[in-house]
Amino acid sequence: HRDLIGIGQLERHEILFLLDEAEQWVALNRQPTKHENVLSGLTVINAFFENSTRTLLSFEIAGKRLGADVVNMHAAQSSVKKGETLIDTAITLNAMRADAIVIRHGSSGATQLIADKVDCPVLNAGDGQHEHPTQALLDALALRHALRDRGETADDFTGLKIVICGDILHSRVARSNLLCLQALGASVRLCAPPALMPVGIEAMGAEVFHDFDAALDGADVAMMLRLQTERMSGQFIPSAREYHHLYGLTAKRLEKASKDALVMHPGPMNRGVEIDSEVADMIDRSIITRQVEMGVAIRMAALDVLTRRARGVTGWGDAA
Ligand code: CP
Repeated sequence: HRDLIGIGQLERHEILFLLDEAEQWVALNRQPTKHENVLSGLTVINAFFENSTRTLLSFEIAGKRLGADVVNMHAAQSSVKKGETLIDTAITLNAMRADAIVIRHGSSGATQLIADKVDCPVLNAGDGQHEHPTQALLDALALRHALRDRGETADDFTGLKIVICGDILHSRVARSNLLCLQALGASVRLCAPPALMPVGIEAMGAEVFHDFDAALDGADVAMMLRLQTERMSGQFIPSAREYHHLYGLTAKRLEKASKDALVMHPGPMNRGVEIDSEVADMIDRSIITRQVEMGVAIRMAALDVLTRRARGVTGWGDAA
């Protein structure tokens, strides 16, 4: 592949290859001197048309730790505000001869549209309700490390029951995780109020629940998602209090899951709505901070692997 647009484009061995590549960067990032020069002389442009804390910063840190020149384009301060189209923006970025472009955009498919217009690898940092592939990869890496710490086999998630609960309808994280976790062998249960569950999602092989207690029964992992009110139009929007009552992860509710069930959340969290602080901050169960840590390593791996061909190094397809 030249680009990383979605988990849907990846074979299982390619997902495992990216996770394995990221391991070296996890190790590097834990050392006092955290730099390599594999991307020295390359320019990475982060073009973000939607807000971000984790993804933007971790792509920037990832590029810099590998020696690249990293430039951030925030749409709110760009000529997009003067009416420039997405395609003209893409052509402009291309003319600057970036070596990789990282895009976040509110429209599903925007990343592919840009990839079709530029000459360098494009990495999807979240496009509308479509995919957020590096999020799913970092989630898999965080889960792998958490299981390993417990002495469990973790290269593959066969036998694991993973609940993804929240606003599935609007969630690119849910879609990418469903594809990634299933590719790695896990059984995925999706849980949401009926109005926030995509019609026909069962066809993707997930078990669908509207009762969170039933979904949690015996689960090994609970991955919580926030309500994406900024994407809602016309749907029934439950009040925060009502939503918490039915779908909030409380310590009491977590008892329905397996004894040591892990808790995940991609962030940003709305504490007291989809997850209680008591659960989010559980030292032995919550791996939310570890997910953020793994985000840097995964993005280092993605930037390294996707720019290899341009650097004259064996490319992704060749190595995988
Ligand atoms: N998980 C995630 O994508 O977070 P940001 O929106 O802060 O990048």
